[in-house]
Amino acid sequence: MTVDLEFHLKVTLVLVAAVLTLTSAFASIKRFLACRRFVRTHGCQPVSKSLNKDPFLGLDAIPWTIRAVLQHRILERTCERFRVYGNTFTVKELQRRAILTVEPENIKTILSVKFHDYGIKNRLKPFQPLLGKGIFDTDGDHWASSRALIRPSFTRDQVADLTTLEALIQDLFKLLPRDGKTIVDLQDLFFRYTIDSATEFLFGQSVGTLKKNHSDVEFAHAFHYAQRAVIIRGMLGPLKMFYPDRKADECNRICRDFAQQFVEEAFRAVAIQKQGQNNPKAELKQKKHIFSNELASRTTDKIRVQDELMNVLLAGRDTTASLLSNLFFSLTKNPAIWDKLRREVASLDGRAPTYDELRSLRYARCCMNESLRLHPVVPRNEREAVRDTVLPLGGGKDGLSPIFVPKGTLVGYNLYAMHRRTDFYGPDAEEFRPERWEDGNLQPHWEYLPFNGGPRICIGQQYALTEVGYVLVRMAQEFGVLESCDAGPWEESLTLTLCSRNGTKVCLTPA
Ligand code: HEM
Repeated sequence: MTVDLEFHLKVTLVLVAAVLTLTSAFASIKRFLACRRFVRTHGCQPVSKSLNKDPFLGLDAIPWTIRAVLQHRILERTCERFRVYGNTFTVKELQRRAILTVEPENIKTILSVKFHDYGIKNRLKPFQPLLGKGIFDTDGDHWASSRALIRPSFTRDQVADLTTLEALIQDLFKLLPRDGKTIVDLQDLFFRYTIDSATEFLFGQSVGTLKKNHSDVEFAHAFHYAQRAVIIRGMLGPLKMFYPDRKADECNRICRDFAQQFVEEAFRAVAIQKQGQNNPKAELKQKKHIFSNELASRTTDKIRVQDELMNVLLAGRDTTASLLSNLFFSLTKNPAIWDKLRREVASLDGRAPTYDELRSLRYARCCMNESLRLHPVVPRNEREAVRDTVLPLGGGKDGLSPIFVPKGTLVGYNLYAMHRRTDFYGPDAEEFRPERWEDGNLQPHWEYLPFNGGPRICIGQQYALTEVGYVLVRMAQEFGVLESCDAGPWEESLTLTLCSRNGTKVCLTPA
């Protein structure tokens, strides 16, 4: 009896194993045939260059990456790789195959033409503890409704209000030494400037880090730590469970609680407004276009408003500060450009510019464009294919044929390298030369993407350029000499955004 049972059990197990193997083999064959059909239909050719010699796990690429990160040269080294391997190549990262590209046509396809074939699924997990679910870390319908909710808060009227920017400039000026010999790190102050302006714009009340000692401002401190924790969670992936970070949990709580009080206030203000009560405070805030109030007037979901506030704060704060820091780093190294900028700004006779005057200062705009070209603050990005799809370039020996992108493949696009392509920007592509943008000489499309493109294009572009332009112009009016106090070249500090590793150290002499 026992022997019989054992025998039956064994037979059943063998049968189950055989069925599973056959099913899996059948699925693999079906998949293989479907892929082959897809490849033929679209005329795809294999990508001829792969980074790895180890085709299984791609372990050979890991020491290179670690070395480049430790030397703070991952972007520079990646440019070299594109020069050696061509504009599109593949790389194996453990079990996963990724495609890296600096072809504008491919990037246009990912971000626009075949937008629905790609997603950012892997972003939500590391970002969610701080941001919840909002415009920056979701896909599909959730993202679309976030975008629809937020978009009306970025009309011309909202971004053209320069009152806050001027008040903060006065705070900034008070912290700048004027003896031409005391060294100050503008980068640190720009990060404070942008958190003050972002909190004013989003919450209707600035955290005021320029007014106080920075480290006294709990929210700013917690937000800084929480952002670093996002990067670590992103890098660790599933290994995150072995690295619990209590401080990050606490910082996430501080940030979200901080935003929540403004959400409550916004809903109160909207309720009062709806009841038509005469509340002067609510009326004043209404005039100021407070982002949280705008959202509260369009949804009843408080968590949603809190999440979107955190998303926009993260998307908008460090990016703008990084552009300011990189731009001023380049300006300190190029006194002739600073002088030329000051000559343009002299047309304002020392007055603070209006929004329209700001937009008419062409050389100032060239300087910002050039900084975003040379040091794009979001220097690399990626999307994951959510279905089998195709990219127009990168296949075959000449890299000019379409390539097959199987579902689940990561496609990374590197703006830092693309913005330095000499075939687009000339032999001096590595130089900071705002003149290349003068007289409409350069009108790139998908070869220049500091704010991304397609349906997910940066929603705060005008806001950011207004803010950076304003600081630039006011500084140029105030200071005749901007002397670099950093003997070395610009070095990368790559976190969520790209800024200068050694800050922006200057000595300032008033005009
Ligand atoms: C120099 C400053 C800025 C740069 C270079 C920049 C760049 C970018 C880039 C490259 C993206 C696309 C990210 C992706 O899809 O992977 C993006 C998205 C976004 N940016 Fe900006 N940004 C800047 C400032 C701002 C500001 C000031 C705000 C708001 C106050 C803002 C709000 C957003 C939002 C909400 C998104 C997500 C859009 C979406 O996915 O639909 N950005 N930005």
